[in-house]
Amino acid sequence: MENFRFKGNKLLWNNYSLDTIAKKNKTPFYLYSYNQLKTNVSNFKKTFNKTNPLICFSLKSNSNQKIIKEYAELGIGADVVSIGELKLALKSNIKPNKIVFSGVGKTIEELRYAISKKIFLINCESFSEVKLINSLSKKMKLKTKIGLRLNPNINAKTHSKISTGNDKDKFGLSKLEFKKVIMNFKNSDFIEISALTIHIGSQIKEVFPFNNCLNFLNKTIADLKKANIKIKYVDLGGGMSIPYDFKETKFPLKKYASNVYNFKKKNNVKIIFEPGRFLSGNVGIIISKIIYIKEGAKKKFIVTDAAMNDLIRTALYDANHTILPINRRKEIKSRIEFVGPICESSDKFGEYKKFSRLEESDYICITNTGAYGRSLSSNYNMRPLIAELLIKNNKILIIRKRQNINQIS
Ligand code: LLP
Repeated sequence: MENFRFKGNKLLWNNYSLDTIAKKNKTPFYLYSYNQLKTNVSNFKKTFNKTNPLICFSLKSNSNQKIIKEYAELGIGADVVSIGELKLALKSNIKPNKIVFSGVGKTIEELRYAISKKIFLINCESFSEVKLINSLSKKMKLKTKIGLRLNPNINAKTHSKISTGNDKDKFGLSKLEFKKVIMNFKNSDFIEISALTIHIGSQIKEVFPFNNCLNFLNKTIADLKKANIKIKYVDLGGGMSIPYDFKETKFPLKKYASNVYNFKKKNNVKIIFEPGRFLSGNVGIIISKIIYIKEGAKKKFIVTDAAMNDLIRTALYDANHTILPINRRKEIKSRIEFVGPICESSDKFGEYKKFSRLEESDYICITNTGAYGRSLSSNYNMRPLIAELLIKNNKILIIRKRQNINQIS
């Protein structure tokens, strides 16, 4: 949240006046900052410089092609979960040798395409998937590098809907399936088991769940060594949190980085990361306009032109995206709730006990929406997907146009 400040009464984001941008463009819209994107990448690289990992941006967090191209230009690879994302990564100039493919349900078409493109790793999540890759590779006369995603049964201490490392979750290989894969495919001519991979959830605020993963991996690698199997890469997934309000602390990346470095040295492996939110979360915001203000029996409703189809995180995960006024007035104490126009009670963006005095037609900013914002949006209630704009080199670029109604009907 450190990229927001007020100059007088005007809200600045990465030193840009949001009032000026809001007035010139039809609301609501997503706005991204190239400077923030670049800063995030260089911080991540700098913090992990001793480890020198392959950083694969998780495309599901933000699938705007221009944004992905910017990451690609900064040397970042891609973590993809569908043929659509794989094609998008390739179209965005990411080389196949920097792409990892995750997901529990890759179809035969998706696997055939990924094998033919010789991507860096296909991260497998079941015995059946490994078997299929083996037979496809045989038919295609290729040897495919795979990673085995483990289910370590580790609590990520995050929201249950974004927790993936528990043994009740569908993700990763159970001990049983892992053993079966090793026994059947360790000497295959068509697949090379070159990585172990782990991803236990998203928006994880502390380091200790990650340390538990490193311990789990230490043990697994040692067991494999006894069976004469050498693992070259360890893919540690993503999951690092970002602060969504002014009080929340930052994820202790340095502490994590030093543990990862020790792990890498101990096991003599190369490290891969798949960060999504950590690289893109604070790169985007939504600018929205107040349509109406109405007095409810218990609180005042501030009806915005942005709705849950534009940003579903509040409805889906009770997420908090701090809302800021774009032109600040005197703060007043009264119970207000920001809500959208959609016909669902969960179409809301947060309640406040005090806020700058608001008027109809005011602009507001919904913060930290660069990750899982537009990529999770929908046409619910026949609402067109909103535009995406990028601030780069003092210019405002439209990087995806607003849909029009004819495109969706
Ligand atoms: N790798 C794998 C295998 C994943 O499943 C995910 C996210 C990531 C990497 C990136 O995770 P991140 O670094 O962004 O935490 N829609 C939810 C988040 C779902 C995350 C799904 N998997 C939200 O809005 O909070």
